[in-house]
Amino acid sequence: MNYSKKTIYDVDVKGKKVLLRCDFNVPQDKKTGEITSDKRIVAALPTIRYLLENGAAVIACSHLGKPAATFASYVKKQVEKGKNEADITEEEWKKSLRKLTLAPVAERLSQLLGQEVIFAADVVGEDARAKAAALQSGQIMLLENTRFEKGETKNDPALAKAMADLAGADGVYVSDAFGTVHRAHASTAGIAAYLPAVSGLLVARELDVMGKALNDPKRPFVAVLGGAKVSDKLGVIANLLEKADTIIIGGGMAYTFAKARGGEIGNSLLEADKLDYALEMIEKAKTRGVKLLLPVDTVAAREFSADAEPVVVDVMQIPADMMGMDIGPKTIEIFCDAVKGAGTIVWNGPMGVFEFPRFAEGTKAMAKALAESGAVTIIGGGDSAAAAEQLGFADRITHISTGGGASLEFLEGKELPGVACLLDK
Ligand code: 3PG
Repeated sequence: MNYSKKTIYDVDVKGKKVLLRCDFNVPQDKKTGEITSDKRIVAALPTIRYLLENGAAVIACSHLGKPAATFASYVKKQVEKGKNEADITEEEWKKSLRKLTLAPVAERLSQLLGQEVIFAADVVGEDARAKAAALQSGQIMLLENTRFEKGETKNDPALAKAMADLAGADGVYVSDAFGTVHRAHASTAGIAAYLPAVSGLLVARELDVMGKALNDPKRPFVAVLGGAKVSDKLGVIANLLEKADTIIIGGGMAYTFAKARGGEIGNSLLEADKLDYALEMIEKAKTRGVKLLLPVDTVAAREFSADAEPVVVDVMQIPADMMGMDIGPKTIEIFCDAVKGAGTIVWNGPMGVFEFPRFAEGTKAMAKALAESGAVTIIGGGDSAAAAEQLGFADRITHISTGGGASLEFLEGKELPGVACLLDK
């Protein structure tokens, strides 16, 4: 896939209206609706400031959560969750939508920017159209949640066109929502059919750093993969086997590999239907000359709890009443040695249950090893990013991706609709 895309530096935005797709899918307190982390809003500021300072009128948009855009789809979802259809009311659906309004994001964005953010009560309705038409250079407005429109997730061309029309005939589309580039939605991909489309600074950096790591890495290239499930990483392992010199596998998924090699894994996580896949990957690594490192020991416990007693055991001989919770000390040594001297390290997925301090040593050791490696270090979003932050190593990592699902699909080598639709350099 071509990651060399035009950016906001390659287009003239002066006097133009820019439809800017952000990822303002921020975490909120379930009860109060308060934004619990504004990291994603802060991450969009450099692009927004550049556009405003260079004379653009910015029409920002984003999704928030997964609202049901129609009452019928709300009913379907609730019935799937086990609710009685007759009890579901339209008022309840509307209430669920109100919880996912972007109004609090407009307020927070305005505080961070130090200027007014005009909020439109709809996406392409009367309010959005009137406010977009009146928007002046240097001003910014935010549309309501794009997923309130049923055409958004269906990538409906009529919605994409209506959104593009807000920016007018000489408008520009800027994608700065890396977290959603794996979605082929109207506001992330479809819209590029109607406006010249370029990346914002956040997306440009993600493509630059991660694209280089995959296409032209400084070698040796070491991939560190963890997380609970093999099934979440099938594509990543397969793709990285084509590119990396060493692949390290830890986390919950390592137990399926141990079982596949004939080990006893007690109550550890097992995906029985992935045993053949694990063996296939071990074989593939051999034929391709890729070093595949698996744990040799594990920190096990009798129960999945923060104060369970940790016991170090051989990964191939986990007692029947125990489960693996972290990589063991011998494994830590082997894995840390393997990243020493690397040119590029990509890490996706924790080595153990790092949320429990007793079982965080493996993840902590890997984060430290990355920070001290001197290599170009990249952490895919999601859990491993949270781990690096929580454990205090984030500022010593070259790049922490802002995308969870998106960075995973990036590492799988999949075509990302929100990137493919941008103009090539
Ligand atoms: C994310 O939080 O990973 C992105 O905003 C994408 O959200 P989605 O999974 O609801 O598309």
